[in-house]
Amino acid sequence: MADLTVAPPAPSLLEAYQAVFPTSRALYERALALFPNGVTHDGRFLRPFPIYVDRASGSRKWDVDGHPLIDYWMGHGALLLGHSRTEVVQAVASQAARGTHYGACHELEIEWAEWVTRLVPCAERVRFVSSGTEATLMALRLARTFTGKQKVIKFRGHYHGWHDNLMDGTGPAKDRPLPGVLREVFDTLISLPPGDANLVEDRLKRDEEIACLIVEPTGELFGGTPLGGEFLTALRWLTERHGVVFIMDEVVTGFRCAPGGAQAHYGIKPDLCTLAKILAGGLPGGAVAGRKDILDLLEIRPDAAWQTTKKMPHYGTFNASPLSAAAGVAALKVVAAGQDIARANEMAALLRDRLARVLDAHGLHTWRVFGQFSGVKLSSSQNPAQSRRGDLDLIYALRGGMLLNGVDLPGVDGLTSSAHTADDVEQTAAAFDATLTMLMHEGILART
Ligand SMILES: Cc1ncc(COP(=O)(O)O)c(C=O)c1O
Repeated sequence: MADLTVAPPAPSLLEAYQAVFPTSRALYERALALFPNGVTHDGRFLRPFPIYVDRASGSRKWDVDGHPLIDYWMGHGALLLGHSRTEVVQAVASQAARGTHYGACHELEIEWAEWVTRLVPCAERVRFVSSGTEATLMALRLARTFTGKQKVIKFRGHYHGWHDNLMDGTGPAKDRPLPGVLREVFDTLISLPPGDANLVEDRLKRDEEIACLIVEPTGELFGGTPLGGEFLTALRWLTERHGVVFIMDEVVTGFRCAPGGAQAHYGIKPDLCTLAKILAGGLPGGAVAGRKDILDLLEIRPDAAWQTTKKMPHYGTFNASPLSAAAGVAALKVVAAGQDIARANEMAALLRDRLARVLDAHGLHTWRVFGQFSGVKLSSSQNPAQSRRGDLDLIYALRGGMLLNGVDLPGVDGLTSSAHTADDVEQTAAAFDATLTMLMHEGILART
């Protein structure tokens, strides 16, 4: 006899997501009563709710409902070596048993800084802080003190942390400070379009008040608009010629592009660089490293005139925390050998290739996959008026679909680690394929 039952319609992406991640949903409801939007970082916000993670190891993390997820967040870039790398875990566990904070100097901070000076070309001196945001704040203050000037050149879209000094403007012409950012501070910021050395030169010639220039050396958000060695060489030359402090923000690129960061990869030495993420092996930590004569402005000297006109005061409860130092030393020892960087790069290249093939198979010809080193990025020219991260509904749907298919891809940007395998890449390509099918079926994404 014929089966006359009608198959129920396949659940929508939203219905499937809610059914698959019920414990995350319950936790999110608790979090909503505590945190704005229920989250502790803007980038972790996701509709209808973010997933909650229970544990992580290697290239994977497991959500609170027990699903294994191939991870391309990699601790916002801190985990080049993957989650819970044995050397790092052992170093942290052994240090935790010996004390987490001495309120004093300790040998590990010296060892940590020795690794930084050994690996990073510009690092004649080092000062540890607790995050990348703090590092760029310090680099700017040092540059202003050193030159006696106030203004800063940055490149539009480059991210250097969330303090007042380096946030791009808002509004159609990007000429208004973000809410809460002081107008006086915003007026010291010159945001130029990236990649045009003539514009930089013109600015430096016209304005005598520029203290420093800061750049993400591989372009915004680790290569969103790739730069390259030629542009960086021009920046080095121009800043030197005009007496402007050249700061490379190596918070992401440091220990990732090469053991000595982008500056080692491109062979260009900045005056200062800012470091964080991989520096501290997955624990909180940051640093400013660079020219001795600039970092010496942190010195306490008996000379009263020095103390009042030059000395940059600097405190910070968790500077060079023993736990971060232990994790950092363990991670940098591994990074120094170079194989882990090469492995992460190899997996990213493979992933870029596989994702591009999937896009092609779906006829999504306005989409492209790109990226350098261990970065993987997606973009679409379907709506050029929107930025790469502009279409949030699509990004949330893409993230949700990938999660349903066992992959945690942070929207249109991902990072590989040395723990990723070719098998992970194949599974990710299959998840991408299934997700695109779902998005096209629901009309969220159209063939182009
Ligand atoms: C290039 C760059 N600089 C600075 C920061 C700020 O670092 P943190 O989040 O540790 O404050 C980030 C963070 O992603 C970054 O990507």
